[in-house]
Amino acid sequence: TTAFLNNAYMPLEQASISPMDRGFLFGDGIYEVIPTHYGKPIGLQAHLSRMSDGLAELQIDNPYSAQQWQTLIDTLIQRNRSELGSDYIGVYLQITRGTVMSRQHAYPQDITPTVFGYGFTLAAPPATTPEQVTTLDVALLKDRRWERCHIKSTSLLGNVMHFEQGKAQGKQEAILLNAHDEVTEASSCNVFVVWQGDIYTPPLDYQLLPGITRKLVIESLAKEGIAVYEQVISKTMLLQAQEVWLTSSSKEITPVTHIDEQTIGEGQAGPVWEAALAAFNKHKF
Ligand code: PDD
Repeated sequence: TTAFLNNAYMPLEQASISPMDRGFLFGDGIYEVIPTHYGKPIGLQAHLSRMSDGLAELQIDNPYSAQQWQTLIDTLIQRNRSELGSDYIGVYLQITRGTVMSRQHAYPQDITPTVFGYGFTLAAPPATTPEQVTTLDVALLKDRRWERCHIKSTSLLGNVMHFEQGKAQGKQEAILLNAHDEVTEASSCNVFVVWQGDIYTPPLDYQLLPGITRKLVIESLAKEGIAVYEQVISKTMLLQAQEVWLTSSSKEITPVTHIDEQTIGEGQAGPVWEAALAAFNKHKF
């Protein structure tokens, strides 16, 4: 595995940073996961623009130009594609505020951001037919994270704890409800539902990550003349849905068939999911 750390490429095993990095001390940084198929990134510009937004929000100067990011990402894809022997490579990027000599909450001045990246083998994309796709059983939990979920922060403890809560119940993910019993997102995915024949996903705000897969799914469906309504999804709508899907860079669009004890729809991947994945696959690059 080839990694990138502070302007140099190296084998992942040789990449190391100081424990005084603010990423380690405070989770003071952001990250991206960019999926690539056969050397081609999916949603690259959208990932880079979300990264810029996150850096601006954290008041960290973007350390590289768009061209430099592009070169870095291309290099990680190419090297890892041959080293890992896979055509499905995920590129992980992380930028922290940088390494300090004394731990203090205030943002230090004159600090150089730490930039880390590496490539990993992505799971193969989901099968495209209801008969063959692997579906998910998920838990339904109260969202106990913070009010800045739109930032792709490396401070993922809240998400990790929700994922583990689901896992302890024998589930593969957890869908989260806010204090008003409205769907926010899942611990590492966005949520879509098919309800009374229409497709819904929660509107973007501080309660959820603006997922790039979510954006590409909405855009792909629009190109096929199918609307996605960005509207609040109540717990009742979720549990009465004909279909529920989770989206992320690693899962693309994956159907959910059980939420806690409730069976969703017919308990198998549905026709709207099949159409959505076909639209996504047609337009995703
Ligand atoms: N997870 N919501 C959360 C909380 C996420 O962590 C993710 C992504 C998403 C989907 O975003 P996107 O479509 O841009 O991948 C939604 C990544 C893949 C991860 O942490 O590994």
